[in-house]
Amino acid sequence: MFVCMCYGITDKQIKSAVETHGVGNMRELKQVMTLGSQCGKCVELAQEIIDNTIMDD
Ligand code: FES
Repeated sequence: MFVCMCYGITDKQIKSAVETHGVGNMRELKQVMTLGSQCGKCVELAQEIIDNTIMDD
């Protein structure tokens, strides 16, 4: 599913950034992909996906 409509970022892309780049928060996520800087509506959900992916490990 799309998390960030503005930049077309999916939950799968976020999960893979956590798994392959060791992304742990929004600041680090923004270093590997562009999201959250248009409307900002996706920021909360993106952080939840990061947290859940880390917990699943
Ligand atoms: Fe991500 Fe708008 S949905 S910046």
